[in-house]
Amino acid sequence: MKYPPIIKGLPHMIHGGDYNPEQWRDTPQIWTEDFRLADLAHLNSLSVGIFSWTALEPREGEYDFSWLDTILDEMAKHGMKAILATPSGARPAWMSQKYPEVLRVGADRVRILQGERHNHCYTSPVYREKVAAINEQLARRYAGHPALGAWHLSNEYSGECHCPLCQEAFRSWLKARYHNSLDELNRAWWTAFWSHTYTDWSQVESPSPRGEQNLHGLTLDWMRFATEQTLDFIKAESEPLRRLTPDVPLVTNMMGVYPELDYFRLADGLDVASWDNYPQWMNDEGDAHVAAFAGFQHDLTRCTKDGRPFLLMESSPSSTNWQPVGKLRRPGGHKTYSLQAVAHGADSVQYFQFRKSRGSSEKFHGAVVDHVGNENTRVFGEVKQTGEALTHLDAVVGTAVPAETAVIYDWNNRWVLKDSKGFLQEKGYEQTVLAHYEGFYRRGVPMDVIDQTKPLDKYKLVIAPMLYLLRPGFAEKAEAFVRGGGTFVTTYYSGYVDEHDLCFLGGFPGPLKNLLGIWCEELDGLRPQDTNRMLWEGKDYTLHDFAEVIHLRGAQALGEYGEDFYAGYPALTRNQVGGGSAYYVAARFGEDFHNDFTDHLIRTCGIRTTLGMLPGGVSAQMRTDGENEFVFVMNFMPYAQAVDFGPGGVDMESGETVSGRGELPARGIRMFRR
Ligand code: GLA
Ligand code: ZN
Repeated sequence: MKYPPIIKGLPHMIHGGDYNPEQWRDTPQIWTEDFRLADLAHLNSLSVGIFSWTALEPREGEYDFSWLDTILDEMAKHGMKAILATPSGARPAWMSQKYPEVLRVGADRVRILQGERHNHCYTSPVYREKVAAINEQLARRYAGHPALGAWHLSNEYSGECHCPLCQEAFRSWLKARYHNSLDELNRAWWTAFWSHTYTDWSQVESPSPRGEQNLHGLTLDWMRFATEQTLDFIKAESEPLRRLTPDVPLVTNMMGVYPELDYFRLADGLDVASWDNYPQWMNDEGDAHVAAFAGFQHDLTRCTKDGRPFLLMESSPSSTNWQPVGKLRRPGGHKTYSLQAVAHGADSVQYFQFRKSRGSSEKFHGAVVDHVGNENTRVFGEVKQTGEALTHLDAVVGTAVPAETAVIYDWNNRWVLKDSKGFLQEKGYEQTVLAHYEGFYRRGVPMDVIDQTKPLDKYKLVIAPMLYLLRPGFAEKAEAFVRGGGTFVTTYYSGYVDEHDLCFLGGFPGPLKNLLGIWCEELDGLRPQDTNRMLWEGKDYTLHDFAEVIHLRGAQALGEYGEDFYAGYPALTRNQVGGGSAYYVAARFGEDFHNDFTDHLIRTCGIRTTLGMLPGGVSAQMRTDGENEFVFVMNFMPYAQAVDFGPGGVDMESGETVSGRGELPARGIRMFRR
């Protein structure tokens, strides 16, 4: 089974990036040169129009599309497809001056001044009207244009607005959520605490450092509202595009694990998922870990649209100017880092940016074409080489990642965990999910990263670390999954609160108690110097940060605590339910445990790995069309490593046979079909 290509008429891997020709309108010879260079680098797409509002509508209602016409016509001549942006990511000054309501208000209730970007009010009727008007113009003008490939909605939607219009919208949203009953809201938010009961809807306000920050139910609903209001804005700005160009897919660039928006929800307004990936290679964590984190975010992005191919919308071909250190990508690295996205299900490699801008804050950000202006740079050479490699991957376009294992990463849970006080202030949710993910990633197991709203039945194994907040229905879904033969793993700090962040009464892990066959009586926060350990199958595993004191209620203890007053209590349990099992990991362990536990799960669940054992810093991923498997083996380390390709297959670039032991160069990649 294959998905159709994301861009109609472009059945290839997309190779492109952000391009801002409006910055070079006075020098048309540069435009000409740009197309020569784009061809040379094997680019088949450019993302244009991002932040172009003033160039398109210099004065209210006065449009100028002449420059964009030229660019799109030129792209069509070169057989390229445009990912055409709506300009709502940044506003013209005339608009802010005439309609101050479009300017965002911060949590401190101060309205910003004109400037920067990504800072409009999502609720403002004026902003929505202006966006709809220009989007209508764009869609009318370019509907049917041979270069129009996809719509790039705005840019990196982010943040929140606390203006009076947004406060009113928040109250309306709450009224709908709580059936117009302030009593229901007061109960859900537990407002009797500290005498915070509301007696009139008009008293309800968004959280603020100058006001309420400790009503957890309020904070949670405000975070949800921010996502819903962004989604509502997306839908409003999409209306003319959907109406006038119904066949052109809508995409916006997400930001991986960006904390403030629930991307699983936001994806509802999109046809295709995409994200901007800026890994910090060569930092203190080491590239093996950096690669795993990038892999995690690729998988997460793919799963926001249920596994369909996604776009790597931005990446730097060289250094990234906002990072603390502007490290250059080392020779060879660019191709491997770029194709890593494809290995995890992307159908594109795209850059920020094509041509380096001459002024302002991004003039030293990596780009395909540097200020020198020609193709004779190392970076250009690496981009070209990557483009060449992509031309050999037509068969991979539209294929899926065959994940049998999923890890749950849930924004609602993330928000409330951050708020929850006690045990240990720093919860480390992201790191914990990643630690579980990495065990499988290092073994070349394709993974899905999903939230609690997604179906579980297609997996053999589902891991839900620190699942503190349980969404309605999740416990039942997990139980049905296990009864049907699945394996479910969860950990300490799970099943504590419901969807309102109210504690479950009657014992933790709340509605997961029966499935897991345990009762958690207490949770111990550990100081860095505290020591304890677990004994499991004759081995000792050190634990840290969190240790729960749990009792068996049907489950079997696999591992036990070694020290302290809970020595001898279970620390790792398994409960057999129906045809499957549910594991509970009662404490936070290190890499030694994750390695052994992952091996145990792979063995007992019969999970397939892409290749056999892999050396550290090597990743193996696969995609499939149902008949062929496309295997990507990547070495992220700065030295060559030997890998066992097993029975191997046909190298997708050279056509040679790959099998048995072979060498991957430093930061090198091998791709074969089997
Ligand atoms: C983001 C933005 C781009 C650019 C890059 C720089 O991803 O979307 O416009 O600012 O960062 O890394
Ligand atoms: Zn607002």
